[in-house]
Amino acid sequence: MLTNKRVVLIISGGIAAYKSLDLIRRLRERGASVHAIMTRGAREFITPLAVGALTAQKVYTDLFDREAEQDVGHIRLARDYDLILIAPATADLVAKMAHGIADDLATAVLLATDNPVLIAPAMNPKMWQNPATRRNVEVLRGDGKHFIGPNSGEMAESGEAGVGRMAEPVEIAEAAEALLSGADNAANKPLSGRHIVITSGPTHEPIDPVRYIANRSSGKQGHAIAAAAVEAGAQVTLVSGPVSVPDPKGVDVVHVETAAQMLDAVTNALPADVAIMAAAVADWRVASEGAQKIKKDGSGKPPALELTENPDILATIGHHETLRPRLLIGFAAETQNLLENAKGKLQRKRADWIVANDVSPETGIMGGDANTVRIVSADGVEDWPDLDKGEVARRLVARIAKALDD
Ligand code: CTP
Repeated sequence: MLTNKRVVLIISGGIAAYKSLDLIRRLRERGASVHAIMTRGAREFITPLAVGALTAQKVYTDLFDREAEQDVGHIRLARDYDLILIAPATADLVAKMAHGIADDLATAVLLATDNPVLIAPAMNPKMWQNPATRRNVEVLRGDGKHFIGPNSGEMAESGEAGVGRMAEPVEIAEAAEALLSGADNAANKPLSGRHIVITSGPTHEPIDPVRYIANRSSGKQGHAIAAAAVEAGAQVTLVSGPVSVPDPKGVDVVHVETAAQMLDAVTNALPADVAIMAAAVADWRVASEGAQKIKKDGSGKPPALELTENPDILATIGHHETLRPRLLIGFAAETQNLLENAKGKLQRKRADWIVANDVSPETGIMGGDANTVRIVSADGVEDWPDLDKGEVARRLVARIAKALDD
């Protein structure tokens, strides 16, 4: 519940602004009072009259509102409230926040506040994926701002599909609730005191000094889980294959190349409360790596590459008498028979949960920012909606925290 909580709701200019009307209802039915600030863009989509009718409060629109400024309006809006919620947050507003720009009432309040800020972005998928937006979101996360969504789905205006759609009002209200109940408990750190080992990215298996066998894993999902676990207070060791995504902040990162090195690094990092094997480990390596670059011999025949099987890190840990953590989570990247294969892996590798996903090229999951997963465990199968990889990570971390508490 949000009983007696005072929420400042900043509505910026996007088509999703119409959903903030429903959001106001959701927040109020949980007991919050809602004080809205509308940017000029928001007023192109919905009217202050509609917003005011639903909040039953004055709606703020201008930085230099004579009446409000008499009692230092924007400073008061920044200070005297429990939460500042931005829904929808446009790419422009996210960019301004990340740079500390304060050129209207909404951005001035955001710059002046030290209260919790929850951001529900809504934008075109191309804008969400743009490196500039990715950088801005990282900066804001680093500054301790909280995000909910965006979700994946069709855009209202263009019909384009991808990650960028604002989270649903109920999800946003629940996130606000979770954030404030956490703040009430002094520490919103359900994994504090826990050690978590995570593998991420591909492995590279050398053929000779200049060539290797690899796969298309980007490390985005594993790295996002590491970041979410740190945010939840865990001590995290991330064993990463070669990736281009940056090391998450606050994580001990061990960089490796091959499956054999990854197994060593994982074994060294254990014991832990939880291990999450998100890496796409190469199943095979070249039996005898060439000491020199393999040259064409002029015969026109390619050289034969003899492969040998790599150690299975998840199965090794799963069957280990002393090193197996209390909760062992694997992934199953499949292009066919998803559930059947995932269930097989759960048993064969002695994992507690398998996060299964379809990585057929048409899903765009491998390397992309979205993921659709199913959680397979002895209790059954749980289907999750299409989510941003960061959101998959946060939900997984919340599920882990709950499992450890049970
Ligand atoms: N895994 C591992 N070590 C390996 C291979 C896989 O730890 N040598 C882990 C992955 O990190 C993942 C899970 O096992 O958590 C399943 O990986 P996946 O590549 O889907 O399965 P494979 O074991 O390679 O099975 P298959 O060849 O049938 O797809």
